[in-house]
Amino acid sequence: MSNEGSRIPGFYKLSIDERRQRLRLCADLGEEDLATLEGGGLDTAAADRIVENVVGIYALPLGVGLNFRVNGQDVLVPMAVEEPSVIAAASNAAKMVREGGGFLAEADPPVMTAQIEVVGVDDPAAAKARLEAAAEELLALAHATLPRLADRGGGARELEIRMPGALRAHPHRVIVHVHIDCRNAMGANMVNTVAEALAARVAQLAGGQSGLRILTNLCDRRRVRVTARVPARALTAGPLDGATVRDGIVAASRFAEDDPYRAATHNKGIMNGVDAVVIATGNDWRGVEAGAHAFAAAEGRYRPLSIWRAEGGDLVGRLDMPMAVGTVGGTLKLHAGARLAQRLLGAIDAQTLGMVVGCAGLASNLAALRALATEGIQRGHMALHRKAQAAGGLVGAGVLEGPLR
Ligand code: MEV
Repeated sequence: MSNEGSRIPGFYKLSIDERRQRLRLCADLGEEDLATLEGGGLDTAAADRIVENVVGIYALPLGVGLNFRVNGQDVLVPMAVEEPSVIAAASNAAKMVREGGGFLAEADPPVMTAQIEVVGVDDPAAAKARLEAAAEELLALAHATLPRLADRGGGARELEIRMPGALRAHPHRVIVHVHIDCRNAMGANMVNTVAEALAARVAQLAGGQSGLRILTNLCDRRRVRVTARVPARALTAGPLDGATVRDGIVAASRFAEDDPYRAATHNKGIMNGVDAVVIATGNDWRGVEAGAHAFAAAEGRYRPLSIWRAEGGDLVGRLDMPMAVGTVGGTLKLHAGARLAQRLLGAIDAQTLGMVVGCAGLASNLAALRALATEGIQRGHMALHRKAQAAGGLVGAGVLEGPLR
C-alpha cells in the first residue's frame, strides 16, 4: 500500500489534469500511466483478445476514493462506477472512519473451492468413507495438476466430502469439495482445472458417474472482515448531534437485520463500493456479487453483510463477506487500466486487495446509512445529478451526504 497520504483536501476542485499530477506524485506514476488514464487502458485490439465478437470498448468513469486508512496505512482507492456520488460518499465516510483511527481489516488465506459432483451413487456413506481414505491421493493429483501453484506456496489444502443428506433432492449424489490456496490469483481457472482433473477418479472411488465439476462462488473460506470505529462527534449532521446520528445508523442496521427487503438494499449500498474497486482492478465482479449474496443468505435467511452498533459512545461497524479477488492473471495481462488501478494501491497481494475492497464497501454503507438516518439521500444526490445533467450525462440513484472531501 502507498505510504503517501490519502488525504488530498480539495481534490474534487482540481481540474482532471491537476488531479492526475497529484496522483503522479502520490503514486509514482509516469507519462505513459497518464496516457493510460486518458484512454482507459484498453484498445480494441486488446479487447478482441479478451472476449468475442468485439465491436468496440465500453467505458466507465474511474475515480479515486480518498481518506482511506487501512490497518494504519493510507491507501488511494481506485473506483470505476457509473453512479454519481458513490466515490464522494465513500471518501466522505472514510474521513469519518479516519477520525477513529481508520479501518481495521483482515483476510482469510486465498482459498477457493472446487465442487466435484458424483451422481448415481448406490451407497453414499461407503463412498464417503472411500473418498476420505483416498484424500492424500486426490490432493497429490491436484498438486500434480497445478505444479506452478505449489511452487508459489499455494495448492490443494483439504478435501471435504459433503454429507449427501444435506442435498435431499438427490439422495444418490455425493459432492467432493477441494479447497485450494490460489495465492494472488482469483483462481477460477485453476480451481476448474483441478475439478476436471480429479472428477474421473473421484467418480470411480465413489462408485457413480461424474456430474458437474466447477468452482463454487460461495467462497466462504476466503472472507474479509473489516471494522470501522467512528467517534460520535464525527457523525454530526447539520442540526443533528453525533449521538443522534449514531443511534439512527444503529436503528437502520437493525432494520436490515430484521427485514430481508431492507437487507437487500443495505447490501446494495455495500456493493456500490465493493464493485467499484473490483471492476477498477480488473476482477470478476459477478463472482464477488454471487458470493456476497449467497453468503448473506447462507443461514437460511437473507441478512446484511455488515452490522452497526454503539460501543463506548462510538459507532462501530463490522463487515464480513467472501472476497474472491486477485492481483495476477485474468484480465490483468491485457488491461493496462486495471494494472494501473492496482499500482495506485501499491504493491499489494490478493488478500490486501480484498481488505481494501471490503473497506470501500463498509465506507459506502456508512455513507448511505448516515444519509438515510438524517436528511435522506436525495439532497446530496440531486446536487450531483444536476452536475451530470448539466454535462448532458446519464445518472443513476446516488448517495452523498456532506462535503465531497
Ligand atoms: C443507492 O445506490 C444505495 C442505497 O440505496 C443504499 C442503502 O439504502 O443503504 C442508498
